[in-house]
Amino acid sequence: MELLRRNRILRASPAIRSLVAETILTPADFIAPLFIDEGENIAFEIPSMPGYYRRSIDGTIKEVKELWSMGIKSILLFVKAADDTKDNTGKESWNPDGLMQRSIKAIKDAVPGMIIMTDVALDPYSSYGHDGIVEDGEIVNDRTVEALVKMSLSHAVAGADIIAPSDMMDGRIGAIRQALEQNNFTKTGIMAYSAKYASCFYGPFRDALDSAPGFGDKKTYQMDYANRIEAIKETLMDIEEGADIVMVKPAMAYLDIIREVKNAVDVPVSAYHVSGEYAMIKAAAKMGWLNEEKAILESLTAIKRAGADLIATYFAKDAVRLLL
Ligand code: PBG
Repeated sequence: MELLRRNRILRASPAIRSLVAETILTPADFIAPLFIDEGENIAFEIPSMPGYYRRSIDGTIKEVKELWSMGIKSILLFVKAADDTKDNTGKESWNPDGLMQRSIKAIKDAVPGMIIMTDVALDPYSSYGHDGIVEDGEIVNDRTVEALVKMSLSHAVAGADIIAPSDMMDGRIGAIRQALEQNNFTKTGIMAYSAKYASCFYGPFRDALDSAPGFGDKKTYQMDYANRIEAIKETLMDIEEGADIVMVKPAMAYLDIIREVKNAVDVPVSAYHVSGEYAMIKAAAKMGWLNEEKAILESLTAIKRAGADLIATYFAKDAVRLLL
């Protein structure tokens, strides 16, 4: 054969492949989610997330120091609220001495350079396990947004760098941005969970925080996974309302959405490789059916290739070790 083009030339060795690789993961691509609990010296392995822990603040600080030393620059905080603090108003979520607020302060003191992102939604604090306030069996929008604004301001006061609303209520980004401005938090960013789908892949996360909905599902606020155009609408509205970073969630089953959003916006795009995606790889690896290390790198590279500038993933530390 006489071929003018032989594509295999650029695949012949690891060296040439690395010269022409289009997508390269780095530690600064990752956001490490952290689950925090009350107490001291607590490290609870989440049953459906083997190898991932919910820790008390002391252990969380050690973990954050380690993440920072590995070159990971951001963390996303979730707390497990005590059962006796849960109600239908979510008021524990803006308690200045709440677990989240204490965690933010302690981490800021210990590792000032780390970018602290905080989840904003009522589910860990809700007696119904819903992201909003419930009235007559419905998750009401506007009252919920008022609560989310208080929650966001309390995170900003505690020292959060970036507020990350994951609740999917209408108008919350604009309301939070306005409240930040009015209270002079002009350096606090917003990462909006803009295209967040109602997904079964959040199951293990709800185990981690004991936050599964007590009735019904989240389909009246999170998006229908049948929809693509709606993701662009949601994302553009969040940017108009003041989002600095937008997010698509989950990641692996939504690579098309990540790419469409990336092409449509001029702000950084993040993707959340969620708990169920972590659990699937862990489970298959445990059975000996998948090579865990290869599955991690292939998944995260694919998410970045699809268009994610940032990736929230429970594999952040594993990935950095594998990249070395
Ligand atoms: C809370 C929240 C959820 C996740 C992030 N923030 C759960 C949900 O919406 O039910 C899921 C994260 C994961 O599964 O890893 N609103």
